[in-house]
This record gives sequence, C-alpha cells and structure tokens, in this order.
Amino acid sequence: MRDAESARRDRRARLERRLSGRIPKAPGRTLDPSRRLRGLVDTEEDAPPADIPPRGAFAGSLASRLGPKGRFLMAAVFIGVVITVGDLFWERYTNQTAISADHTNAAQVGLGHTLYDQHCAYCHGLNLAGKPDWDGDYPNGNRPALPLDGTAPTWRLGDRDLFDVIKYGGQPFSPPTYINDMPAFETELADADIWAVIAFMKSRWPQDALTRQKEATAESQ
Ligand code: HEC
Repeated sequence: MRDAESARRDRRARLERRLSGRIPKAPGRTLDPSRRLRGLVDTEEDAPPADIPPRGAFAGSLASRLGPKGRFLMAAVFIGVVITVGDLFWERYTNQTAISADHTNAAQVGLGHTLYDQHCAYCHGLNLAGKPDWDGDYPNGNRPALPLDGTAPTWRLGDRDLFDVIKYGGQPFSPPTYINDMPAFETELADADIWAVIAFMKSRWPQDALTRQKEATAESQ
C-alpha cells in the first residue's frame, strides 16, 4: 500500500517536472470537494495524475523529449527545408534563366509585372502611360519618361535594344551632349529580370505595335 502510494507520487512528480511551466493546469485537475469528502481522493493533492500528458499529441510529446536544443535544431531544419523547396519552385516558375522575352508566357509576364511596379512605375507610370506631355521636352532639354505600353514608338527598338537600354541606361546610347534620364538597372535587376520586364511591357502592346517591332527588328538586321 505504501509502495504503491510512493510510486504514484514519484510518477506524478516526474510528470509535473516534465510539464512544469508549459501547460496551464487543466480545469479537470481541480479538486472536486464531493469526491474528497467521500475519501476517493487524498486530501492534500488534486485529482489523480493522468498517465498520459494532457497535450497528448505526438508533436507535443516529441517536442518535450527533444529539449530546447533539439527543438531549436528541428526548427532550423524545418526552416531550411522550407527555404530550399521555396527556392526550387521559384527557380522553376519564374524563369531565372530566361534569355529572351515571351509576352505570352504568363509566369514571365507576372514576374515582370511585379518588377515593373517596383522599379519602373515611379517614372513610367503604374499603367505604363509615361509622364504627361511625354512627347515634349522638359525645360532643361531632357525628355520625360515615355509610355511603355506601345503608344510611344518604343517598338522601333528590338528586344535586344530594349534590354540594353534597361540594363545600361539611356546615356550610353545618346549623343554626349544630351543628358538621358533613363537610369541603368545593371546592379538592380538580373538579366532574367530584365527579360521579364520586357515580356510584361510587350504583353500590354497592341498587336500593331508588336508587328511593327518585328518589322523594324528584321530591317535592322
Ligand atoms: C528615374 C526615372 C525612370 C525610371 C525609374 C525608369 N525609367 Fe525608363 N526612361 C526614363 C526616361 C526619362 C526615359 C526617356 C529618356 C530619353 O529619351 O531621354 C526613359 C526611357 C526608357 C526606355 C526607352 C524607350 C524608347 O523608346 O526610347 C525604355 C525601354 C525604358 N525607359 C524602360 C524602363 C524600364 C523597363 C524601367 C524599369 C526597370 C525604367 N525604364 C525605369 C526614366 C525612367
């Protein structure tokens, strides 16, 4: 009888050490006075210990067995796996190796749209309409940002030329006396990103701008 009693206390103490600080006392573990009166539960203790930890779930018991270091390691491994898998999907679905612009490729156009909003919309407008009065000159002689939606004669540039203007900026392709305000994106955008932005631009072009660009590109070769 005494042995059974102390074994039970031991088990209870072990359980409490494992759970201490992590689990609020379950409501069911408070003492029911009627049971105490009837002598069903010893007076100094609450309800009898449960043999199964109240949280019960596999993850919970695993976490408590691992200890703080083990949990840290588990979390690190989990985050690593998430990043790796995410990266693989990103690579696969966003064309990080693209070497041309395909305005019919929804994934490339989608990536281009995001990048355009982040890097170009500030000057060329969210709807690609360019600055108002883009067709005139600014008082200092520079030209304002022009529309990229196909309404300006941007189609006279082939994809490769568009790529170069975006990558290296407008200045290298302008006369030395002219200040071109189109900045270079060489350090901000990877080549594949630039192709994606071009794909996005061209997805907004009307068919005749696409046709003219094809003709202009063919002529210049
Ligand atoms: C700081 C403002 C600014 C930002 C940001 C900017 N541009 Fe420009 N862009 C200009 C200006 C101004 C011109 C016209 C330059 C000129 O002709 O003198 C221009 C010209 C261009 C041209 C040449 C079009 C043509 O037909 O000559 C292209 C293509 C272009 N921008 C694309 C982009 C793309 C794509 C981005 C984002 C990655 C971008 N620009 C970001 C200001 C900007």
